[in-house]
Amino acid sequence: MKLLEQFNLKNLNLKNRVVMPPMCMYSSFDKSGHLTAFHKAHYLMRAVGGVGYIIIESTGVLPGGRITDQDLGVWSDDFIPDFKSLVTELHKYGTKVAIQINHAGRKSKILPSVAPSAIAFGNYPVPNELSIDEINDIIKAFGAAARRANEAGFDALEIHGAHGYLINQFMSPLANKRKDIYQDRTLFLKNIIKEVKKYWPKDKVLQLRITAYEYDENGLTPEVWASVLNEIKSDIDLVHVSSGGTILTKVNDYPGYQLGYAKTIKSLTGLPVIAGGLIDEIKLAENTLNQEEADLIYFGRKLLREPFFLLNETEIEWPEQYIRGKKQS
Ligand SMILES: Cc1cc2nc3c(=O)[nH]c(=O)nc-3n(C[C@H](O)[C@H](O)[C@H](O)COP(=O)(O)O)c2cc1C
Repeated sequence: MKLLEQFNLKNLNLKNRVVMPPMCMYSSFDKSGHLTAFHKAHYLMRAVGGVGYIIIESTGVLPGGRITDQDLGVWSDDFIPDFKSLVTELHKYGTKVAIQINHAGRKSKILPSVAPSAIAFGNYPVPNELSIDEINDIIKAFGAAARRANEAGFDALEIHGAHGYLINQFMSPLANKRKDIYQDRTLFLKNIIKEVKKYWPKDKVLQLRITAYEYDENGLTPEVWASVLNEIKSDIDLVHVSSGGTILTKVNDYPGYQLGYAKTIKSLTGLPVIAGGLIDEIKLAENTLNQEEADLIYFGRKLLREPFFLLNETEIEWPEQYIRGKKQS
């Protein structure tokens, strides 16, 4: 089964192609940005369940850049020890771990929010337009977050360029109406990558999550993204393909609804991709991999409701502690 085959990219060696995508749990209850017992159990459970690659949820590069004040943070060196011990525990189950670093921009509930332009998301408050100095500070914060992620031992780093958060806001014609140098909508992303690469080792995977399609005729498309990715291809190792989130709109989703976007990105750039979206059936994941339309498959909500689906639905090895729970056939 292709889903259970290894995947190797730079020094990221995955035992299978099953990915737990970043899913914000809003569970840093004391608002400090630190991991809680909940997070540790939550991620460890999926590692015990055999997931090859866990991407830790959206984590704020700055306190005010979080989606909510209960998000995780990585804006100071104080966060390194807890992340380090989480990564060490997950490694014990053969699971590799990335962290998604993010600034929420106009989608932050921590006010006042900031954005490339003073245009609100839906009925959220109007954000303040960022000055060049403020933009430079945020770019530096991404670099510092990358350094901390490396020191914590993460196997890979994911820059959150999707779902209508700050990088996506700069990229999108729907949110960026600037008249200065950042009217080049790719510049913020490119400057972040340049800064991150000062600290993130060359032999470790650097990946980018993207909203390949914004569900608006004036918004970003997989073809536009592919041409941007072709410009930055030497810096990005893996593309994590998603869609939506830039504007409030109804998305007609169904199992595999985003797979076509991933296929387009892969074929137009030649870069490896992580694909998914409402995948419940292993068969759909398997077909996508066999047709070489994606390299890795993410299961988000399925892993929330069925952390052990791989144990129950495939032939992977059970963790020793749980073998007595295996159904006898
Ligand atoms: C509770 C929840 C939290 C999420 N938080 C994040 C996040 O922090 N970062 C991100 O890129 N996507 C986030 N997502 C989107 C998921 O990573 C995934 O793309 C989405 O759920 C679609 O995949 P699925 O249908 O397999 O769940 C979240 C989704 C859920 C359900």
